[in-house]
Amino acid sequence: MKIAILSRAPRSYSTQRLRAAAIERGHVAKVLNTLRFAIDLSGDEPDLQFRGKRLSQYDAILPRIGSSITYYGTAVVRQFEQMDVYTPNTANGIGNARDKLRANQILSRHGIAMPPTAFVRNRADVIPAIERVGGAPVVVKLLEGTQGIGVILAPEIKVAEAIIETLQSARQNVLIQHFVKEARGRDVRALVVGDRVVAAMRRTAKGEEFRSNVHRGGTVEAVQLDDEYQRTAVRAAQIMGLKVAGVDLLEGADGPLVMEVNSSPGLEGIETATKLDVAGAIIDYIANQVAFPQIDVRERLAVSTGYGVAELVVHGDADLVGKTLTESGLRERDITVLTVHRGTGVIPNPGGHHVLAAEDRLLCWGRLEEMRSMIPERPKRRPRVKKLPKQPLPDTP
Ligand SMILES: Nc1ncnc2c1ncn2[C@@H]1O[C@H](COP(=O)(O)OP(=O)(O)O)[C@@H](O)[C@H]1O
Ligand SMILES: [Mg+2]
Repeated sequence: MKIAILSRAPRSYSTQRLRAAAIERGHVAKVLNTLRFAIDLSGDEPDLQFRGKRLSQYDAILPRIGSSITYYGTAVVRQFEQMDVYTPNTANGIGNARDKLRANQILSRHGIAMPPTAFVRNRADVIPAIERVGGAPVVVKLLEGTQGIGVILAPEIKVAEAIIETLQSARQNVLIQHFVKEARGRDVRALVVGDRVVAAMRRTAKGEEFRSNVHRGGTVEAVQLDDEYQRTAVRAAQIMGLKVAGVDLLEGADGPLVMEVNSSPGLEGIETATKLDVAGAIIDYIANQVAFPQIDVRERLAVSTGYGVAELVVHGDADLVGKTLTESGLRERDITVLTVHRGTGVIPNPGGHHVLAAEDRLLCWGRLEEMRSMIPERPKRRPRVKKLPKQPLPDTP
């Protein structure tokens, strides 16, 4: 394949490793400066110029978009998507991950455990929010910080309030987050590629510091994650729309708490700590996926009026229980079942012989009128996310 690594730092460890890994595998790899693209919207087809010339054909891109150029960088990535060039991380995914609030909203919607977090604007709401997340000491975070900058531990409510007021008066939006004491200045970075964790490390903060970022003097060591931690990391990356991601987890008393999902994870720390070829795993994954550029399914399926996507639940007392999909009569009603979710498992593309059980959730595409009567009633208030069971995290020898 011919791959473009979008990066402003051609000499950085990560960029060099990715380029070398691609070349080693017989691919053509170019490092292109994200800010030297011009997005051309004048023609019939979406197009891109690079350094003033029309860009040649690429099969894939690997965006490494720094936080200082998120807006322009995601616009370039989106343009590649529109040109049907494969990218493991979509513009939407990168945008989701960049904003800590947006990331938290998306993850909590899907039942991923996170430290309790609040977002407020009015002065009067600050103290109640701090109390809701568990009181002082409390963590205050800038929405778009990186490398630990903009993450503050406030020892008491009054101090937290003053910090928040100061930041807000400087037009900064902040998150208020429960301080996960039991993490004791340590966190876990899981490097997710596709649907697996390819490498993981634990970071430990220096001295009295609670932030474990390497840029704050934190040290790293390889770690073998148990199933629960791996599953949580992969789910978090997938929900965000990222196929290559660094997922940061705190070791909470009741299991993993997702703190952050990074869309351009650095490779130096994790490759050094684990001695694993993470760059190679990323390139191999992309080479496997190149034939399948991202498409916005909802958008593409919303073609004809009266048709759409809906999730239907098989009610215990309904006449669907025990029937096969063929017998269910859904097909005759112009409803196609794309997936069946049962408990935590998924059956993709179920066949006509598939037998339905009570509480199965069917992701369907079909006539909205036919599906309307089958859509479950909205719960008044979503139930609280269940905490994951406690499980210690084993060290690697
Ligand atoms: N709620 C929290 N409880 C305990 N430690 C935290 C919490 N939030 C952040 N930290 C520590 O601070 C570090 C930086 O926070 P993070 O949200 O990842 O910001 P950044 O994007 O700047 O890395 C984390 O790696 C972790 O060690
Ligand atoms: Mg972080």
